[in-house]
Amino acid sequence: MTGASAGAPVRPPAALSRTGARVERQPLARFTTLGVGGEAEVWFVGTHEQLAEAMEQPYRVLGGGSNLVIADEGVPERVIRLSGPFAERDLEPDPALSAGDGVVTGWVGGGVPLPGLIRALQKLGLSNLEGTVGIPAQVGGAVWMNAGTRYGEMFDGLHTIEIATPAGVRQVTPDDLNWGYRNSGIPRNHVVTRVRLKLRRSTPEAVLERMEHADVARKGQPKMKTPGCAFKNPRTPEFPDGVSAGRLIDQAGLKGTRGGHAMISPDHANFIVNLGGATAADVHALLHLIRERVGVAMELEYELWPEQALSAPERA
Ligand code: FAD
Ligand code: EPU
Repeated sequence: MTGASAGAPVRPPAALSRTGARVERQPLARFTTLGVGGEAEVWFVGTHEQLAEAMEQPYRVLGGGSNLVIADEGVPERVIRLSGPFAERDLEPDPALSAGDGVVTGWVGGGVPLPGLIRALQKLGLSNLEGTVGIPAQVGGAVWMNAGTRYGEMFDGLHTIEIATPAGVRQVTPDDLNWGYRNSGIPRNHVVTRVRLKLRRSTPEAVLERMEHADVARKGQPKMKTPGCAFKNPRTPEFPDGVSAGRLIDQAGLKGTRGGHAMISPDHANFIVNLGGATAADVHALLHLIRERVGVAMELEYELWPEQALSAPERA
């Protein structure tokens, strides 16, 4: 008798790399909010040395997995996950950089879960990032795409960003980057390892009030497995200030449309949800259908691993 049940994939046990990173084949579905994605070699890195080793071969960076649609076959590249010291936070104001109401914190790791950070800042009465309440990201992923809501975004509260690249580690400030709506200007596969936050002293009560206000906008969002909004809100000559992609998809009559075991949410049309057992192909089919039916060019917000043109709808 072996411990493995019949038919279950036999995976090699976790191993330590040359520099001590834990390396393990894992189904990526367990790291994503959609709950879809096949296997890859996951590198759990906690030091710059381990990260540099992981970056010696083709790699991808995985944060909270809250914006990803990963193929059922998985991906061939190494998948890097920040852990250990890269998932720790030091919120102590740095006396050398903090003055008056302005606070600059110690280092916050890219692997720190954003929701817990936002709660901790509220309790400390530190303001600037409460508009990002409810975003189920890691700090690094949220910075990389400047996640936000109409009440605020990550770049409202950043002082320094530490970025690891294959050419070395550097520190930049927001002024060094060409950032904007859902875009940090940081190149793909440059890893946000740590940040220092730039905050404003307020009170726990005032920060909580603003968080609750921002959270009201989430009431209409589905509570099922999903990678959030599928498309960025388009800005076009017709809608220079942007228009809700959800409204456009809704107006196209697509709410509730199913593609295999995935569905365009009846609650908010810009969310695709996993009804249970959805595949990446199910989601691709719905994305393709939306593109086809909505007569406005919309940029995908989801990231497809591997990157690919959306396949023709087979089942939607
Ligand atoms: P992942 O999904 O793991 O990765 C996304 C991208 O970031 C990939 O390219 C990845 O390589 C890169 N990345 C991840 N970590 C790092 C790192 N450390 N360094 C460099 N690159 C990295 N988004 C919003 O903007 N506003 C919202 O209101 C919002 N609401 C959401 C609600 C729900 C229920 C869900 C499921 C998602 C929502 N999202 C929202 C989408 C998602 O949370 C954001 O896109 C977020 O920025 C993704 O971060 P992540 O850490 O999960 O990154
Ligand atoms: N609407 C519809 N039908 C729908 C969805 C929306 O008519 O199916 C209408 C609403 O009634 C409202 C308007 O469109 O009048 C705007 O809707 P909502 O308040 O939900 O905002 P949104 O623009 O659709 C954006 C972000 C969300 C963020 C919310 C709250 C994008 C792509 N989406 O949604 O971010 O949480 O505002 O601030 O920018 C994400 O990026 O993943 C995400 C969830």
